[in-house]
Amino acid sequence: MKGKKIIVGVSGGIAAYKAAELVRLLVKADARTFVTMTSNGARFVTPLTFEALSGNRVIRDMWDNEGTSIDHISWGQESDLIIIAPATANFIAKMAHGIGDDFLSTMVLAATAGILVCPSMNSQMFKNPAVQDNLRVLKARGITVMEPGEGQLACHTEGPGRLPEPGDIMEQAFILISPQDLSGLKILVTAGPTVEPIDPVRYITNRSSGKMGYALARAARRRGASVTLVSGPTNLKPPYGVEFCGVKTAEDMKQAVFKNRPKCNIIIKAAAVSDYRPRDSAAHKIKKDEDSLSLELVKNPDILAELGSARKESDCLLVGFAAETKDLMANAKKKLRGKNLDMIVANDVSREDSGFETDTNIVKIIYSDGQVEDLALMTKDAVADLVLDRINAMWEGSLEHRSGN
Ligand code: CTP
Repeated sequence: MKGKKIIVGVSGGIAAYKAAELVRLLVKADARTFVTMTSNGARFVTPLTFEALSGNRVIRDMWDNEGTSIDHISWGQESDLIIIAPATANFIAKMAHGIGDDFLSTMVLAATAGILVCPSMNSQMFKNPAVQDNLRVLKARGITVMEPGEGQLACHTEGPGRLPEPGDIMEQAFILISPQDLSGLKILVTAGPTVEPIDPVRYITNRSSGKMGYALARAARRRGASVTLVSGPTNLKPPYGVEFCGVKTAEDMKQAVFKNRPKCNIIIKAAAVSDYRPRDSAAHKIKKDEDSLSLELVKNPDILAELGSARKESDCLLVGFAAETKDLMANAKKKLRGKNLDMIVANDVSREDSGFETDTNIVKIIYSDGQVEDLALMTKDAVADLVLDRINAMWEGSLEHRSGN
């Protein structure tokens, strides 16, 4: 989002207050954010709120132009994206029928930038055939329309019509302004820990937060890939637009990975799979009757090694992660060869700024031809984008290889 010019158009619905959070998120993501409101939008939230959040003047009236500028033309033609949030039934109808009777609707008519419409209204209104027809018209014209959320609405009814969450609108905006260089690729990412039950109230797990895997899934989706995220339990919200499959144990994860494998081009295994599980999981809570307690552990399947040994020439690319506390390179190289991978991302999880729970990582990428790339400390989001760049280059190389060029 850095440096992108984004226009937020606020029309007159109660969810106008949520647009304030959207503007805050855009500014936080370093977007140059400008707001225009319809006069009814300004009845719900004052322009001052948006001016304070965006740092820019809010235009409400067609005749608010500064000097000789023709803002209703320049705003829509010099921006990267226009987000209409909330988009009321009335505003959607105006868009569908080409009506320009105020600043926002006229700007939209003259716009060359992409447009994202985020409907928000009473659910009967949303289901009304007239509104549905208008939305179809907008979609057919190449405008992106988000599905509204469901739940209790401000009018005390339940159903579809809720403004999508500002975080989800942000993600859709990222998709619309990011280069779609991974479009057409189907990527499976695994993330988080697995948990292995001891009894109904206890389990064995590890310190994986899932942040690296979620960053990969989010970045791949933003760049146009179809993404399936198979995740053990974490505190993270599944990224917007990603097919999410929540699992608990290593065995569950294996089932989910092998079920999805046939439709994938690339599998990235960022999960920290528990290597062992209790031989037996007690049916009832184990009581503290004894002074000591031994647990017998048995080995879990090594999902990545099984994928590696089952692969054929035409199979998908396999990318592993190696979490190490010593002999990083030697151990990672051993895993790369032993599991028959195309690439492994090695990280030293004993460092405070790298590995589990942190927002940053310092990694080395090791390729199957023995090359090593040493990366500086960076955020997990930046690592994700870089790893995806390398995977994409490798995928394109493998396509050339397969087509004999
Ligand atoms: N992995 C897996 N299934 C397992 C264990 C690991 O699929 N049962 C995958 C991980 O998702 C990761 C890679 O294998 O991509 C390496 O995982 P890591 O925990 O670093 O190493 P292990 O193979 O488990 O070996 P060790 O614990 O001895 O270091």
